[in-house]
Amino acid sequence: MEKKVVLITGCSSGIGLSLAVRLASEPSKTFKVYATMRNLAKKERLLECVKDLHQGTLEILQMDVTDRQSIMQAKDMIVEKRVDILVCNAGVGLVGPLEVQHLDSMRHILEVNLLGTIQTIQAFLSEMKARRQGHILVTGSTGGLHGLPFNDMYCASKFAIEGACESLAVLLQHFNIHVSLIECGPVNTDFLVNLQKAELGDPSLQQVDTQTLSLYEKYLQHCSSVFQNAAQDTEDIVKVFLTAIQSSSPALRYFTGSVVPPLTDPKLTQPDGLQYIRAMSKIIFSSEEQ
Ligand SMILES: NC(=O)c1ccc[n+]([C@@H]2O[C@H](COP(=O)([O-])OP(=O)(O)OC[C@H]3O[C@@H](n4cnc5c(N)ncnc54)[C@H](OP(=O)(O)O)[C@@H]3O)[C@@H](O)[C@H]2O)c1
Repeated sequence: MEKKVVLITGCSSGIGLSLAVRLASEPSKTFKVYATMRNLAKKERLLECVKDLHQGTLEILQMDVTDRQSIMQAKDMIVEKRVDILVCNAGVGLVGPLEVQHLDSMRHILEVNLLGTIQTIQAFLSEMKARRQGHILVTGSTGGLHGLPFNDMYCASKFAIEGACESLAVLLQHFNIHVSLIECGPVNTDFLVNLQKAELGDPSLQQVDTQTLSLYEKYLQHCSSVFQNAAQDTEDIVKVFLTAIQSSSPALRYFTGSVVPPLTDPKLTQPDGLQYIRAMSKIIFSSEEQ
């Protein structure tokens, strides 16, 4: 049987790496995986994880999602000249009080998370439409479904992706192309190490008022406790990707946690947003806001 051709962005670590390893190691050799990363110097980690289970099922290509030429060069390297399953996974984080964020950092997160995802999809869309076949999967975030304090730009980028994917899904169903968002909560990856974060004590925070700083400290404590106690492993996320990939009628959204994030409920039932703001504030800042 012809292999399904999969291209994944951001495979140097985390979710992208685990998904590439899982699909390339499938004993049935169902998939041919093009695992892409912006810096090929990082490919050893992926090769060590996949060991020798990938004969004929894995190619590693350079691709920076912010660089159209690099996307097109990777596309040209695909021997089969088609992609059946496109996984837009590359992403970065940015945390801190909004007033200290530099325009360059804000541009960068939008360029990777939003425009990088969109220009990757653009590169493969015409061929998928012409073949009337394809599945586009995007690593989404619960931060794309409800706002999180001190993650204004990250949430803005992930909310924007929700809008783009939902819009595309309406059109692409007419071309037999599926769009799926894999909505992750906290996951144990290099994400926290790689994200740009204003550390308490950074000179940049000197200009910030004391109340914001105190709330930021609470947020950082909350965040570290959530990652310690509730973060999922990449294997859990990969299982959800597999469910979506193997479905004959894939959904637009898959939630990696066992329940739909509870805070989406007040957003739907109380669309004025006030209940959501109070609930999230209570969860994150606890005693401060009660
Ligand atoms: N971990 C979480 O808690 C969590 C929660 C919700 C959603 N997510 C989403 O999951 C996705 C994967 O993140 P992760 O948790 O696996 O974190 P990760 O281990 O930091 O992986 C992020 C990947 O994106 C790559 N990347 C960054 N900028 C890129 C660019 N310009 N072009 C191509 N690749 C680029 C990174 O490459 P380099 O090694 O070169 O930097 C890395 O391979 C992201 O979209 C993130 O928003 C993560």
